Amino acid sequence: MPTFPTLSDAPVAGRRVFVRVDLNVPIKEGVIRDDTRIRAAVPTLQELLDRGCTLVLATHLGRPKGPPAPGDDSARLGPVAKRLSELLGREVRYLATDGPGTPEQQAFVADAPEGSVTLLENTRFDPRETKNDPALARVFAGYAEAYVNDAFGSAHRAHASTEGVARLLPSAAGRLMERELSVLGKLLEAPERPFVVVLGGAKVSDKIAVIERLLEIADALIVGGAMAFTFVKAQGGSVGDSLVEDDRLDLARALLAKAEERGVPLVLPADAVCAAEIVPGAETSVHPAGAIPDGLKGLDAGPEAISAFRDALAGAATVLWNGPLGVFEVPPFDAGTNAIAEAVASSGAMSVIGGGDSVSAIKKAGLADRVDHVSTGGGASLEFLEGKTLPGVAVLGHLPWA
Ligand code: 3PG
Repeated sequence: MPTFPTLSDAPVAGRRVFVRVDLNVPIKEGVIRDDTRIRAAVPTLQELLDRGCTLVLATHLGRPKGPPAPGDDSARLGPVAKRLSELLGREVRYLATDGPGTPEQQAFVADAPEGSVTLLENTRFDPRETKNDPALARVFAGYAEAYVNDAFGSAHRAHASTEGVARLLPSAAGRLMERELSVLGKLLEAPERPFVVVLGGAKVSDKIAVIERLLEIADALIVGGAMAFTFVKAQGGSVGDSLVEDDRLDLARALLAKAEERGVPLVLPADAVCAAEIVPGAETSVHPAGAIPDGLKGLDAGPEAISAFRDALAGAATVLWNGPLGVFEVPPFDAGTNAIAEAVASSGAMSVIGGGDSVSAIKKAGLADRVDHVSTGGGASLEFLEGKTLPGVAVLGHLPWA
């Protein structure tokens, strides 16, 4: 578990604080589809306001490579500022600019009244952000006297607003960052046992490092989603037209061998719900996962697989779930993922959902409230679980608090 200063260690009262938040939320046609990350940012912001701070907030939204084209507002933060203002119950100052650090933005920040909240325009409108350019970090540092990073979802990025600026101001982690690192850190260091991990998703290649790491920690590993077919094929099964990474078959064999050597059950799906195409309401049939006819793809966990997965989860004291077990966006291929969501939520175990699609899945199933911790990090939670150093965390505490 990394050590870092938190808000409890930071004498921020009455100061101007630059707060990096991760308000990278899905927005379609100007409407926010999921405001979880905005809600998750509120406790830290409220605490800082209660401590008399003036806040300058920064976030990215999407992956723009520079300023927006004229008339393209799709990556602007207007809707985010409005929603944050509703949740905080106070004005959030926001000025649409072509980038961070423009003269208009500098004037706007300089005018910020004491105790106010200002949200800067999308940090990625300036290409210097993702390059961690020290000149942009200096602009950000010039906006405040202290730095708080509450953007766990972006902590794996060494960008000017997540890393560079922390070299120039006294810094601390916000409460969301603190909670994410403490919950995920406990899984790696001292999980209540038995500790059962459910991993899904399309590609083994995305999850190699996390599987390797978790095989050293977990008591059982359930592998579902399309990536299971690479394991099934590696064991000699016929997987029809299912998605397989042929260049990872040796790796899958090595992971199976490692699981056996360590005595950790690696539970693969016994059967799969198959169809010729991924279309809503497609005609489906169930086949053993290692005997799928050509022309059919395995698109969801089958009934036997679900039952075995449930058995593996029964009695777990800690459960970590990352990645859907089928093409959950397209019914009827959501049944396996929904069944696992229900099994995780009702397991009685300390349950953690590690970011990305599995978070969307548990929300879609309406079960997010019944899980102990739903991580706001996708890539960040995976990298943390892999054991990588998160640059946005490692830099905290670089300068002492005066
Ligand atoms: C995320 O959505 O995972 C974070 O906001 C990071 O976004 P990025 O992958 O574009 O850096």
